[in-house]
Amino acid sequence: MDTIRNLPETEEYPDTEVQKDQELTLEEWQEKWVSRKIGFHQEEGHRLLKKHLDTFLHSGIKLRVFFPLCGKAVEMRWFSDLGHSVVGVEISELAIREFFTEQSLPYSKEPIPEIPGAKLFKNSSGTISLYCCDIFDLPRANIDKFDRIWDRGALVAINPCDRQRYVDTLLSLTRKDFHYFLCALSYDPTKHSGPPFNVPDTEVKKLFGMTCNIRCLENVDVLEERHRSWGIDSLFERLYLLTEK
Ligand SMILES: C[S@@+](CC[C@H](N)C(=O)[O-])C[C@H]1O[C@@H](n2cnc3c(N)ncnc32)[C@H](O)[C@@H]1O
Repeated sequence: MDTIRNLPETEEYPDTEVQKDQELTLEEWQEKWVSRKIGFHQEEGHRLLKKHLDTFLHSGIKLRVFFPLCGKAVEMRWFSDLGHSVVGVEISELAIREFFTEQSLPYSKEPIPEIPGAKLFKNSSGTISLYCCDIFDLPRANIDKFDRIWDRGALVAINPCDRQRYVDTLLSLTRKDFHYFLCALSYDPTKHSGPPFNVPDTEVKKLFGMTCNIRCLENVDVLEERHRSWGIDSLFERLYLLTEK
C-alpha cells in the first residue's frame, strides 16, 4: 500500500548541490530507448493522474494539453479519447513511433521548417501532435499555447543546470488560467546520481514560487524493489498543482 501523507514541514533531502553538475546528452537519452533502459515508462498510466483527472480537466471545455518530454506516455491517448488536443515533445523518434504503433494509431511525419532536423508526428485525426526535437527548440515552431501541462518524468529528467530555462520555456507556453500538474521526486541525492534527479519541495518553490500558486495534492511513498538497486531506501513522489499567481 502506498503511504499518502501530508507534506512534511521540513524537506527530507533539500540538497540539490550534489547533483548540480550531472548531465545527460540528448544522444544518451536516445540510446536509452534503443537499449530499452526505459523503466520509467508506465504501461497502465499514472495512478495519481487517474485519481485527479477531474481536477485536471476541471472546466469541461476542449483543452490543449502539453506533455513535455513525453516518451510514449499512454496518458496522451486518454486525453485525445476524451476529445482534447494533445501536444508532446520528445527527442527520441523511436519513442514517438512506438507510441503510435502501440496505440494502433496511423500517423504521418513532416519536417518542421523552423527547426532544422526536427519532425512533427501526427495521428490521422490530428488530435495528437508529437514534436521530435529538443524541448528548448520548441518555442521556435510558434505553436499555440496550452491550458494544461502534465509534467511527469520531465522536470526530474532535465539536467539540473537547465531547470530554470526549462521552467521559463514551459511557462512561456501557457495560456491564462492554465493548470500545470507536476510530479517531482525526492530521495537522498548522495546515494544516486540520477536521472531522475532529486527535486525537493524547496526546489519546486524556488523554481515556481515567484510566478505560480503551488498546491501539493499528494505526497506518496513510491519506493519499489527496482529503486533499491539505485542505492536508495526512500523515494517520495509529490504531485503539485501549479496555477497562475
Ligand atoms: C524519464 S523519461 C519520461 C517519459 C515520459 N514523460 C513518461 O512519463 O514516461 C524522459 C524523456 O525525455 C526525453 N528527453 C530528455 N531530454 C529531452 C529534451 N531536452 N528534449 C526532448 N526530450 C527529451 C527522453 O528521451 C525520455 O524519453
